[in-house]
Amino acid sequence: MVASGFAIQTRQLTKIYPGFWKSQQVAALTELNLAVERSQIFGLLGPNGSGKTTTIKLLLGLINPTAGDALVMGKPAGDQDTRRVIGYLPEESYLYRFLNARQTLDFYARLFNMNRAQRRRAIDYYLDFVGLDPAVRSRRIGTYSKGQTRRVALAQALLNNPDLVIMDEPTSGLDPVGMLEIKNMIMRLKDAGKTVLLSSHQLADVEDVCDRLVILYRGRVEIQGTLNDLLEVKDTFQLEARGVTPEIQTQLLEFAQRSGLTDVRTGRPRVRLEDIFKNLVDSKRKAERR
Ligand SMILES: Nc1ncnc2c1ncn2[C@@H]1O[C@H](COP(=O)(O)OP(=O)(O)OP(=O)(O)O)[C@@H](O)[C@H]1O
Ligand SMILES: [Mg+2]
Repeated sequence: MVASGFAIQTRQLTKIYPGFWKSQQVAALTELNLAVERSQIFGLLGPNGSGKTTTIKLLLGLINPTAGDALVMGKPAGDQDTRRVIGYLPEESYLYRFLNARQTLDFYARLFNMNRAQRRRAIDYYLDFVGLDPAVRSRRIGTYSKGQTRRVALAQALLNNPDLVIMDEPTSGLDPVGMLEIKNMIMRLKDAGKTVLLSSHQLADVEDVCDRLVILYRGRVEIQGTLNDLLEVKDTFQLEARGVTPEIQTQLLEFAQRSGLTDVRTGRPRVRLEDIFKNLVDSKRKAERR
């Protein structure tokens, strides 16, 4: 494979987990061809067991492919130098329960050879970035809620200011507000020129942030494309307006009928439950701060 301008490129990437008997083998990923452009947010979707985590482990070089290959930032998956420019958020947050958030990040910052001043700056910056409540930062992680733990893991993944961030189910365990915050955070990473690969089975997660996505099913790509391509209903037009009186409604429907339009549907737009929840929590938090 030749070096490429893509952040991630895979060719016929395949993983079969071995079993003692042939019938116990699992074809977790079959002939995956991915091309993730730099500064894109790329979504890896699929139901449980469809091969998302397997793909991520292959890209990180944590497991070896059965066939095919992968280039990450232009180098073969697992390349030691490339690891420095990759941030990885695993599916499960593995954090030491007896350290607090600051101590945890300090431990990792030392691994990246940061000096004391750099460590302090980076830790404060990323704990703010992931929105970890300042009140819990000095309390041990064993006492954190799921969402708080996830945020520390996320801060850890970003600590070395990576060019490519790979996140396996970034919003797992988060409430809707936490999910929105993470989505905003991912957009900020993109604005900063980072490439983000994220896996999820929470479709709402992906819908708002991804530029491109693939949907895996039993280890094979079933659907892929840009979000716009996939979501836009091409042969339908939608009109939304305020001040539509019953008379105007009647006229519009008559006009539609005269014009020979088919499948005409009218009604009031609905907000999402997510928006109601978010507005509630936002206003409560504002009131608490006052
Ligand atoms: N070490 C392993 N040995 C055998 N089979 C495995 C192993 N790891 C994963 N598998 C199988 O490979 C398939 C894909 O698993 P994978 O973890 O990649 O799915 P996933 O899309 O991440 O699912 P989830 O949404 O549940 O996290 C599953 O059938 C799983 O049981
Ligand atoms: Mg998984």
